[in-house]
Amino acid sequence: MADDLLQVARAARAKAHAPYSKFKVGAAVRGESGRIYGGCNVENAAYPEGTCAETSAIAAMVLAGESKIIELLVLGVSDEPVTPCGGCRQRIREFAAPDTPIHMATPDGVLVSMTLDELLPQSFGPDNLP
Ligand code: THU
Repeated sequence: MADDLLQVARAARAKAHAPYSKFKVGAAVRGESGRIYGGCNVENAAYPEGTCAETSAIAAMVLAGESKIIELLVLGVSDEPVTPCGGCRQRIREFAAPDTPIHMATPDGVLVSMTLDELLPQSFGPDNLP
């Protein structure tokens, strides 16, 4: 089902810049058009300036002119599923609906899928602003 996202996230992860944590992450976002945008984490010697894979995938989607996330996959290599960090959950929230599926995967496949609302309940979003 999310095989195409998995493929893109795998290729994106291979390009991650993670010399400090050594924890490479890839992400893939499906926009409303059906097109898929990849992203990888990009760390920095000034540690807090590093960015997450989800963040760069979302930026690629926005750059392409899209503003709706239909589905997102995040991929890391670990026994437990890599879940989007708190900041990325909020960034996803900007462009996704409560029932948008978020898949957490390893290179071998999806380990778990949850909705955005499950990951970020009672969230604050664009609709909360007048
Ligand atoms: N990281 C991501 O890119 N996405 C996540 O969902 C979790 C964490 C990155 C940030 C940092 O470069 C590395 O993983 C270790 O935290």
